[in-house]
Amino acid sequence: MMKILHVSCSPRGQAAESYRLSQKIIGFMLQKEPTAILVNRVIGGGTIPPVDEDYAISQGSSADVSQEASMARSEELILELESSDVVVISTPMHNLTVPATLKVWIDHIVRARRTFSMTAEGKVGTLRDRPVFVAIASGGRFSGERARQPDFLTPYLKAILGMVGLHDLTFFSVQGTGSGPDAVAETRTRTDQALQEYFSSFYPRAQQVDRSVPANAR
Ligand SMILES: Cc1cc2nc3c(=O)[nH]c(=O)nc-3n(C[C@H](O)[C@H](O)[C@H](O)COP(=O)(O)O)c2cc1C
Repeated sequence: MMKILHVSCSPRGQAAESYRLSQKIIGFMLQKEPTAILVNRVIGGGTIPPVDEDYAISQGSSADVSQEASMARSEELILELESSDVVVISTPMHNLTVPATLKVWIDHIVRARRTFSMTAEGKVGTLRDRPVFVAIASGGRFSGERARQPDFLTPYLKAILGMVGLHDLTFFSVQGTGSGPDAVAETRTRTDQALQEYFSSFYPRAQQVDRSVPANAR
């Protein structure tokens, strides 16, 4: 049975724009696979503490450390990720990149000698590749001609998830949520169209495409 892991990262919880977008993505998936199991990993409220000393030691050397606290939490989050067939990450852009809560999740699932190994050629991921959908909300625009800020979010996620073996990333976004209700309504509509188009033609084979649609786009 298909298992969808939804990692939701906004401090605004279910009221978040990114959450709203993720629900649409998940809705399309459930339409195709009504019996899919949905696992909600809610981290937006800061439920995962930053990694601890033992964890930090384990990442810098192969020294034996306690397998409790952060190490146990890391194992739990990795097993949850490993057992999923599709991952949906809903996240706001915070200060040009991922929010701190998502960074903490990444710190737990990107683990040396567990989800990646170090070789002479560099770091090699050990996770089985699977589709990852990223639902982003941002106050301003970060892609397209009208972007007025750099984007350290999508390139970062591509690099860091790629490092553990997750290369099959698809981004959807609602950009410009700070632009007022009319602009937000318009960008939502455009994103909905992009979702409709994507899921009617591509699913279940996810492609490495950026379907970001800024507010008042193009
Ligand atoms: C701490 C913080 C930093 C933010 N930094 C940015 C930013 O760098 N660029 C941007 O476009 N929006 C930024 N925003 C605005 C959010 O991305 C925007 O409100 C978004 O719609 C929130 O999505 P959500 O409803 O899913 O939480 C920031 C918001 C917060 C709280």
